[in-house]
Amino acid sequence: MQPIDHLICYAVKANSHQAIIKTLAQQGAGADVVSEGELRRALKAGVPSDKIVYSGVAKTAKEIQYALSQKILQFNVESENELEVINQIAIEMQTTAAIAFRINPDIDANTHAKISTGKSENKFGIPISKAREIYRKASEMKGIKVQGVDVHIGSQLTDLTPFRLTFERIKHLVEDLTTDGINIEIIDLGGGLGVNYEHKQQIDHEISDYCQMVKEIFASSQCKILLEPGRSLVANSGLLVSKVVYKKQGDERLFLIIDAAMNDLLRPSMYDAHHEILSVHQKQANETYDVVGPVCETGDTFARNRQMTALEEGELLAITNSGAYGAVMASTYNTRLLIPEVLVKDAEYSIIKARVSYAELIDRDQLANWQ
Ligand code: LLP
Repeated sequence: MQPIDHLICYAVKANSHQAIIKTLAQQGAGADVVSEGELRRALKAGVPSDKIVYSGVAKTAKEIQYALSQKILQFNVESENELEVINQIAIEMQTTAAIAFRINPDIDANTHAKISTGKSENKFGIPISKAREIYRKASEMKGIKVQGVDVHIGSQLTDLTPFRLTFERIKHLVEDLTTDGINIEIIDLGGGLGVNYEHKQQIDHEISDYCQMVKEIFASSQCKILLEPGRSLVANSGLLVSKVVYKKQGDERLFLIIDAAMNDLLRPSMYDAHHEILSVHQKQANETYDVVGPVCETGDTFARNRQMTALEEGELLAITNSGAYGAVMASTYNTRLLIPEVLVKDAEYSIIKARVSYAELIDRDQLANWQ
C-alpha cells in the first residue's frame, strides 16, 4: 500500500520537557498543544508553528490571540461558542484562523473512565449529529478557514476496534461534508494508542497494525492525516528511580516504603495504573510487597500485593514506563521537592532538570500585606 501524506503532532502533555520535545522535533514531529504554555514550550523547543495543532475545550481569548499571532497549523475547535470567539478575534486581528472541529463520535474507547473522551456524555467535541450544521455555519464566517476534521476518543486504548469504528465514522463524515461543498484537507485522528504497562501479552496490536488500519481506511482520501500520539512515544523511555527507605511488616502486609510518592508519579493513585517495579540490582529472591510512598494518604500506593524482586533498605528500584504522564503531573504535595530529571543516550547522561532547593520552593510564598 502507498504511504499516505501524514504528520505526527506529538501530544506535548505526555512529557513537555524541552529536551524531549526537541528530540522529537528533530525527527520531524510537529506538536499537539492544549494551552498557551504548551504552545510556548513547543515553539521554544524548535517545533515550526505550521506543524502545531491546538486542542482543548477551554481556549481563552488571550490564548487564541497568541496562537493566531504565531500562525499555527490548526485550531481543533470543540464548541460553537469557541468557534464564535475564534472568528471574532481573527477578524479583529485581520487574519483567518484555520480550523478543524473535534468530533465526538459517541464511541466507547474501552479504557479507564477518567481518560475516555469519545462518548456523548464526555465534555469533548461536537456531537457527530450536529457536525454538518456547524461546518456549514463555520464555512460562512469571515475569520474562519475550515480545513479539517479532528477526533480523539481517549487514551491507553488496548484494542483497535474503537479506533476502527471511529475512523469509519469520520471517513463518512468527510464524504458528507464534501457533498455539502466543504473541502476537507486534513484529518486529525488524535492519539490514544496504549502501551504495554504490564509487560505481558495484554495488548493485541502493534503500532504497525494501527498504521495499517489507518492506511486501509484513508488510503482513498486525498487528505493529509495528522496523528497526535503522546504516551506511545515516550512512556517506555522513562524510569522513576527510587530508594527503599523502610521495610515494614504490618499485621497483614509487608510494606516497601520508598522515597518516591504519588506526587512524583500520580498514575497508580489516580487511575489504579499498573507500573512494573524492577530492582536496579541483579538478584534472584522474590518477596511480596505493598509498595508505598511517604505521603500521608493510603492512596499513595504504587503496587499492592506485588510479587517482585526482594529489596532491602537503601537499595534502588525503578518504576517503569514513567516517561509519559509522569513528571508532567508531578506536584510538590507534602512540600516534597520535584525530583531531578536525567536524559540518557547510549553511555552518556545529562541532567535536564536540576534538583530544586527547599528555599526555592518555600520562598515562592509571600506573606500578605497585613502580616
Ligand atoms: N490528543 C488529545 C486531544 C488528547 O487529549 C490526548 C491525551 C492526546 C492527543 C494524547 O493521547 P495519548 O497518545 O498519550 O494517549 N494522564 C492520563 C492520560 C491523559 C490523556 C489526555 N489526553 C494518564 O496518565 O493515563
